[in-house]
Amino acid sequence: MTAHSTTLKVGEKVVDLPVREGTIGPAVVDIGKLYAQTGMFTYDPGFTSTAACESKITYIDGDEGVLLHRGYPIEQLAEHGDFLETCYLLLYGELPTPAQKSDFDYRITRHTMVHEQMMRFFQAFRRDAHPMAVMVASVGALSAFYHDSTDISDPHQRMVASMRMIAKMPTLAAMAYKYSIGQPFIYPKNDLDYSSNFLNMCFAVPCEEYKVNPVLSRALDRIFILHADHEQNASTSTVRLAGSSGANPFACIAAGIACLWGPAHGGANEAALTMLREIGSVDNIPKYIAKAKDKNDPFRLMGFGHRVYKNYDPRAKIMQKTCHEVLNELGIKDDPLLDIAMELERIALSDDYFIEKKLYPNIDFYSGITLKAMGFPTEMFTVLFALARTVGWIAQWREMISDPAQKIGRPRQLYTGAPQRDYVPMAQRR
Ligand code: SDX
Repeated sequence: MTAHSTTLKVGEKVVDLPVREGTIGPAVVDIGKLYAQTGMFTYDPGFTSTAACESKITYIDGDEGVLLHRGYPIEQLAEHGDFLETCYLLLYGELPTPAQKSDFDYRITRHTMVHEQMMRFFQAFRRDAHPMAVMVASVGALSAFYHDSTDISDPHQRMVASMRMIAKMPTLAAMAYKYSIGQPFIYPKNDLDYSSNFLNMCFAVPCEEYKVNPVLSRALDRIFILHADHEQNASTSTVRLAGSSGANPFACIAAGIACLWGPAHGGANEAALTMLREIGSVDNIPKYIAKAKDKNDPFRLMGFGHRVYKNYDPRAKIMQKTCHEVLNELGIKDDPLLDIAMELERIALSDDYFIEKKLYPNIDFYSGITLKAMGFPTEMFTVLFALARTVGWIAQWREMISDPAQKIGRPRQLYTGAPQRDYVPMAQRR
């Protein structure tokens, strides 16, 4: 990490600020001492120019449409590996050897069951509860069932909690789905791989044998890889901030799930499909493009745009290819929503507004169509995003916890409220 410095003139004062270079990507100006030296804060409410931490896990180049996990391009990981290999890479920093991979698969597989009393926990929900509400609650509740892995100062307990969450998220997600449709829960099966096990827990019923379609299972596994981690996005930053107070890992991941739920973030896959349904036909697209461009209309094209990618989201390209694979495998020749999506993308990418603002389809644009074709209801789309992103949240949380420089996150503010004033007794108020 090469370091040099830059100067900043604040009023009559000139301060020296250290500059640190990363391996690749933008350098950073360390402003840690700025307030002490100048009495001023920096101001960047959406963190558009702020690096909140140092990390070795994921690198994104928004202009070039590059996404690397521990240096490996997402295209290669999605093409050649499986989701648990990406999990190992994110957690440990290197691709696993064959022995390490089979040990990791074994450990995850044998943590997939949840405490039997979680069944009673689920029964407290209304059947029509949004599954993301169920996931926020049940992941947070894991800290009530697994006290033996909540001491974050113990590396062993941190690893056990990590394994438990990666392993149990599919089980909890499938339980949320089954509960919402009034079907019995299906237990995990240790002879199935991670994604096949999830499909079985979602779509099998006790009355008959369920055969997992290997093409769909491979496609879902790839979708999980695409969603595994994404640098310091809103939900990952939420997990880091929650973790900086020393909160237990289950509570931190529950906080991440809550943040991901928002339609500007992970909730966009559900919102994108709802939008396509609302558009209804290719003929209505111009009306919605006009709404998206109208400054006075809050409508946005869900699944379009990104804070970092000002070029095509590399994951969206793989997502689109996977979408076509799944539709072909299922013999879905003309999905009207896919027709609308493809025409919407074609028109938007040739429209000056979207070109000038560098708005491209992001990962959420095609994922909804794919998941709907696989049989998942719209409300489950963000649950699957949370399932996959759990490993990224955990890897980032572990990196933060083991950083010797780590301290509680506590941003300041620009105060524009009332100056100090005295209390007015009720009798004198008019
Ligand atoms: C994810 O951060 C991550 O890495 C997230 C994620 C991950 O893996 O963790 O990649 C997952 O959340 C993907 C994004 C999913 N969200 C959506 O698809 C929702 C629709 N997109 C927008 O809400 C928006 O693009 C954001 C939230 C994604 C990004 O917003 P920014 O970076 O704050 O950009 P902005 O809102 O300042 O927009 C810049 C301009 C604005 O116009 P001006 O005010 O400059 O005139 O572009 C316009 C916006 O109005 N704009 C859009 C638009 N997105 C931005 N106009 C129409 N449709 C859109 N989708």
